[in-house]
Amino acid sequence: MTQDSIFIGGGGEGYGVAETLLLKYGNRHGLIAGATGTGKTITMQIMAEEFSRAGVPVFLTDIKGDVSGMAMPGTPRDSFQRRADTIGLDALHYEAMPVTFWDLFGEFGHPVRTTVADMGPLLLSRILELTDAQEGVINVAFRLADEEGWPILDLDDLRAMLQFLSDNQREMSARYGNVTTASIGAIQRRLLVLENQGATQFFGEPALDIRDLMRPDPPRGTAGSTCCTPSG
Ligand SMILES: Nc1ncnc2c1ncn2[C@@H]1O[C@H](COP(=O)(O)OP(=O)(O)OP(=O)(O)O)[C@@H](O)[C@H]1O
Ligand SMILES: [Mg+2]
Repeated sequence: MTQDSIFIGGGGEGYGVAETLLLKYGNRHGLIAGATGTGKTITMQIMAEEFSRAGVPVFLTDIKGDVSGMAMPGTPRDSFQRRADTIGLDALHYEAMPVTFWDLFGEFGHPVRTTVADMGPLLLSRILELTDAQEGVINVAFRLADEEGWPILDLDDLRAMLQFLSDNQREMSARYGNVTTASIGAIQRRLLVLENQGATQFFGEPALDIRDLMRPDPPRGTAGSTCCTPSG
């Protein structure tokens, strides 16, 4: 690797030709394609490691856990050294990458959380797949929370808010427009589905600060890397 590029691997006849990616083109769109077992994942892992070394924070969604091993140093093997010799990779060494595991379910890694308030009525309505009328009720709930200074942090808060709308339906309808029990009931049922899918873990404090994904790693100076495993 040189300062302005990252080494992807050896190519050409005999595999001795260095294939590199110029760092200045690293912000372009890319596609890694190939048949099963041809090295797509390893290529992506190499890029992630080399970007990290160059001080670029890396975010990976790793459903299968293919690349989580980069958190540990590799085990030297003769075949690795032979391959390194073939492709002209000198100074082969084994090193753990600075990795933070994020876990939507908060079981095997750092929890990824947001508050209902931070998510907002529009995105929440999309997630719950609400109709326009139901989305209107969610907007009323958010407006009411705003006006009254009631925090909606997690799904229990939202549920309590819907219950309040239901209990004070006549007054709420007069104040904000039609709030029907049918719409409230539909939202409550959608919330149940979301909870059954494990979303309770996802809502609450502290909410994820997106800058946490872009942290440099102090021992490395400039480099930082983040690896996400939404395991279940
Ligand atoms: N650059 C490489 N040099 C040497 N061997 C490699 C290289 N890339 C991949 N391999 C070998 O090929 C195997 C399969 O690679 P990889 O898992 O990256 O393939 P893939 O294209 O992601 O496959 P799948 O489609 O099944 O996900 C690896 O376990 C590794 O042994
Ligand atoms: Mg793969």
